[in-house]
Amino acid sequence: METGAKKKKIMIRVRDLRKEYRLKDDTVVALKRINLDIEQGEICCIFGTSGSGKSTLLNQLAGLEKPTFGDVYIRGVAVTRLSEKELAEFRQKHIGFVFQSYNLLPFMNAAENVAVPLMFRGVSKRERMKKSAAILKKVGLANRLNHYPKQMSGGQQQRVGIARAFIAHPDVVFADEPTGNLDSKTTIEVMEMIKSFARRFNQTIVLVTHDPELAQYADRIVTLVDGRIVNDTKSIKNDTVKGEANEQAI
Ligand SMILES: Nc1ncnc2c1ncn2[C@@H]1O[C@H](COP(=O)(O)OP(=O)(O)O)[C@@H](O)[C@H]1O
Ligand SMILES: [Mg+2]
Repeated sequence: METGAKKKKIMIRVRDLRKEYRLKDDTVVALKRINLDIEQGEICCIFGTSGSGKSTLLNQLAGLEKPTFGDVYIRGVAVTRLSEKELAEFRQKHIGFVFQSYNLLPFMNAAENVAVPLMFRGVSKRERMKKSAAILKKVGLANRLNHYPKQMSGGQQQRVGIARAFIAHPDVVFADEPTGNLDSKTTIEVMEMIKSFARRFNQTIVLVTHDPELAQYADRIVTLVDGRIVNDTKSIKNDTVKGEANEQAI
């Protein structure tokens, strides 16, 4: 559905991002001058080996950590400059997360876990439960609404996690190694699910992985080595896009 002339909206803008971790007598520079624009509706994979800075980048993008230098804008808002309270509100409105370890609340059943983001939006309990049941049906868990996390398999828990991330239709969903604990068949199911939700509502996905198989689900693969972007490739047309991309640095 490439229209060519139509200009896409930038959803995430990263400018001169740097992150240092100060240790006792050492400083780790985890991100070095990252510049990146991610379009609305894009499924963007942050790809790289362990220790390359993927999770650090995701944490700065999502406002979970403050960078040492530089800024991240989501929908034009400098999330790097928001207070903790403003950030929490911004996240509740605009951002969803899928975690490798699922991060479901153990004392809530599947339906209640999925409904949590709607609670923050003031949706009535009745409506929350209706929506939660509907989306759990979509991820194939209509018969698991009352199950607690420990009563479900890893794949089922992750499907609950996906339903929770998407239920309030956030603009951006961040996923850090979302299939890291799943077998290969379940991995495919989970990735197909993330992709189809994102496409339906033109949502932006930032997917962190070290797995080249997973990267294939993305529209674009941004490769990190030692905290720098060394390659930035649109996967469908397989053309390298602008910017910091530097093939030689790989
Ligand atoms: N909280 C921290 N304190 C100190 N060093 C850290 C911290 N988090 C990450 N690092 C370091 O930053 C680098 C990038 O880490 P990370 O972003 O977790 O990589 P990846 O997710 O690609 O495996 C690594 O060298 C790691 O040791
Ligand atoms: Mg990581």
